[in-house]
Amino acid sequence: MAKTIQAIRGMNDCSPTESPLWQWVEEKVRTVLAGYGYSEVRMPIVEATPLFARAIGEVTDVVSKEMYTFWDNDEQLTLRPEGTAGCVRAAIEHGWIYNNEQRLWYLGPMFRHERPQKGRYRQFHQAGVEIFGIPNPEIDAELILLTARLWQALGIDQHVSLQLNSIGSPQARANYRSALVEFLTKHTALMSEEEKERLVKNPLRILDTKNQALQAVLNDAPKLLDYLDDESRTHFQQLCELLDGMGIGYEINPKLVRGLDYYNKTVFEWVTDALGAQGTVCGGGRYDGLVEQLGGHATQGVGFAMGLERLVLLVQEVNKNIVLPNAVDIYLVYAGEGTTLAAFRLAEKLRTALPHLRIMTHCSGGNFKKQFKRADKLAAKFALVLGESEVAAQNVVLKDLRGGGEQQTVAQSALIEYLSEKFY
Ligand code: HAM
Repeated sequence: MAKTIQAIRGMNDCSPTESPLWQWVEEKVRTVLAGYGYSEVRMPIVEATPLFARAIGEVTDVVSKEMYTFWDNDEQLTLRPEGTAGCVRAAIEHGWIYNNEQRLWYLGPMFRHERPQKGRYRQFHQAGVEIFGIPNPEIDAELILLTARLWQALGIDQHVSLQLNSIGSPQARANYRSALVEFLTKHTALMSEEEKERLVKNPLRILDTKNQALQAVLNDAPKLLDYLDDESRTHFQQLCELLDGMGIGYEINPKLVRGLDYYNKTVFEWVTDALGAQGTVCGGGRYDGLVEQLGGHATQGVGFAMGLERLVLLVQEVNKNIVLPNAVDIYLVYAGEGTTLAAFRLAEKLRTALPHLRIMTHCSGGNFKKQFKRADKLAAKFALVLGESEVAAQNVVLKDLRGGGEQQTVAQSALIEYLSEKFY
């Protein structure tokens, strides 16, 4: 036998038994987004490498270590590690943002060369939202309300909590950065080589270190919230008031800075402790300078993205009430002279009349016993049985496969009405 080829590490297949839950989660995402009037966009999964370097930042982990980059003739391309950069690129390119506000969403695969573990993959899926042209904190609040509604729809609202921070204007952050570096320089003895490198390149990322000795010291470090410019401070206060008024609980986490460079003002993450180390299910914030930085007219932006693998894992972990639809409602079994064509005709007629039903035709021969076994394995609710005598009499036998196995002969002319009653 030829040697088999395996999937790439950290890139998962979605099996036929897993896909119903994925579809269920995606359907909830689509329904909630539609309820807020957002429009779907679809962007390519490959973009020119400089787009990510410019948008996300050269010194971030994502750009410096995690991108899948390759040469296509003389152009360097990258598999998208996230959706914001491509969405902003598309919005500028097609003029989506110049005449009116835009509330956009996307869903699809992203790629990061990270060390795979539960909840962290090299190909993963995000559902993301990007809003352009709205400076007010109302829209930040709307995004948070929308996500809270989605958690309810997914039955995970008791298992996620909201972390909130403001990282202010670029100038406020630069002032804070100097104060933080001055403070941290006194504690380099506690730092790993990587943290020392961060101190030079991206010191704010040290705030979310896992190094416990450093974490303890950080409690006395200068706080970003104390360095905020007035506009960011007011924006943040108004957002907090709106969330309070809407009954959304949150924790202000002064160490929350996010791992991508484009943010300003509001940043937030929804986290869970039900998934182990990879507990952030959704992250986002404001990026008012990004459109201009990528060559567009100055336009405010705000958005978030959630990791669908993590949401699916969390739903599996905590929501035991989901009833997923069966792949098959009715399994059509047939054997004998002239029954194949009769079965095909009957199945097509039923699919036309009852398009919501999932009807599978056996197609692979064998006696009735073997065919019923297959129907059972697929957990079909009913079998429709066509033998030579049924074809001759224009009947069909309907066998209830779930409740007691009773069976009934029904005229084919009455079948559609009969089934529509059974399935409503
Ligand atoms: P991010 O925090 O890098 O933000 O990713 C958002 C979410 O994607 C994470 O919270 C997590 O649930 C999921 N995620 C990230 N990396 C992985 C991975 N390796 N495996 C599984 N899931 C993962 C962004 O990507 C921003 N573009 C979000 C945004 C949109 N901000 C403004 N607009």
